[in-house]
Amino acid sequence: MSIGVTGATGQLGRMVIRNLKQKVPVSDIVALVRDPAKAVDLGVTARAFDYTRPGILEPALGGIDTLLLISSSEVGQRAPQHANVIAAAKKAGVKWIVYTSLLRADTSPLNLAAEHVQTEAMLKKAGVPHTLLRNGWYTENYTGSVPAALANGAFFGSAGEGRISSAPRADYAEAAAVVLTSKGQAGKVYELAGDQAYTLADLAAEISRQTGRSIPYANLPESEYAAALKGAGLPEGLAAAIASWDVGASKGGLFDDGHQLSKLLGRPTTPLSTVVAQALQAMG
Ligand SMILES: NC(=O)c1ccc[n+]([C@@H]2O[C@H](COP(=O)([O-])OP(=O)(O)OC[C@H]3O[C@@H](n4cnc5c(N)ncnc54)[C@H](OP(=O)(O)O)[C@@H]3O)[C@@H](O)[C@H]2O)c1
Repeated sequence: MSIGVTGATGQLGRMVIRNLKQKVPVSDIVALVRDPAKAVDLGVTARAFDYTRPGILEPALGGIDTLLLISSSEVGQRAPQHANVIAAAKKAGVKWIVYTSLLRADTSPLNLAAEHVQTEAMLKKAGVPHTLLRNGWYTENYTGSVPAALANGAFFGSAGEGRISSAPRADYAEAAAVVLTSKGQAGKVYELAGDQAYTLADLAAEISRQTGRSIPYANLPESEYAAALKGAGLPEGLAAAIASWDVGASKGGLFDDGHQLSKLLGRPTTPLSTVVAQALQAMG
C-alpha cells in the first residue's frame, strides 16, 4: 500500500511525512513535490509533482493507492490546480483521496471557502472514494504576529469578540496521518478544530502573561487593519485578505466545538499557551 503526499515540502506536508514514518514502512510513503531536491531530507521517495503541469501528474501517481491532496497555497489558482490532480488520480487508479479542506467549507463566511467547496464538488463528481479533512485555522496564523504585537505594544486585529478554535499545524498533520492509516474512512467529512476557543483579547492576555508586559488587544475596523498590515509591508491584496478573514472570525467562522480533532488524536489539542510559548521561544 503506497501513500502519496502532495505539498510534502510545505510546512504541513513535512509534518505529515514525519508522522507517517512512525506508522508505516518508509517504502510505503511517496512525497509528491514541486522540487524533489527540497525533499531529500524527508527520507522518503520523492517524485516531481506540480499541480500546474497536468502531463507529469498521472505518471507520478503510478502505484499510489492513497493520496493526501494538500490544498495548494496559490490562492485563486487552486480550483484548476486541484482539478488537474483529481483527474490524474482517477486516471492513475488511485483508490482513495484525502483532501485538506476548510472548516465548514460549505457555510464558512471566509472567502477562502469557495475554492475548497469547488474542490469538494470535483471529488464527488470524479467518483473516487474520498475523505475531507476540513481543517480549521492554524494557531500559528495568529502567533506569527507575536513579534509585531511586542514591537507595537498591542495586538491588532478585526476579529472583535469572535471565538477562534485553532490548533497548531502539528495537530492537523498528526490527525491526517491517523486518518491516512486507518480503515473505513472513505466518505467521512471531518470538521477539525482546536478544543479551546479564544478571542484575540484572550490571546493578547496570554502574550501579556507570558512576557510580563501589558499587550492589549486593539480591535480595528477592517479597512484600518488592512491599512496597518499594508503599512507593515504586506502586499495590498494579502493585507485585505487577512483583515477580511478576521471579520469572518468575528462572525464565528473560526469557531467550532465538535472536538473531532482531539477525538482523532486521542488527546486534547495543543493549547494556545503552548503555541504562544513556542512563538516567544523562536524570538530568542
Ligand atoms: N488552515 C489554515 O489556517 C491554513 C493556513 C494557511 C494555508 N492553509 C492551506 O493549507 C495548505 C498547507 O498549509 P502549509 O502551512 O503547509 O502551507 P505551505 O507551507 O505554504 O505549503 C504549501 C505547499 O503547497 C505546495 N504547492 C503550492 N503550489 C503548488 C503547485 N502548483 N504544485 C504542487 N505543489 C504546490 C508548496 O510547494 P513548495 O514546497 O514547492 O513550495 C508547498 O509544499 C496551504 O497550501 C493552504 O492551502 C491553511
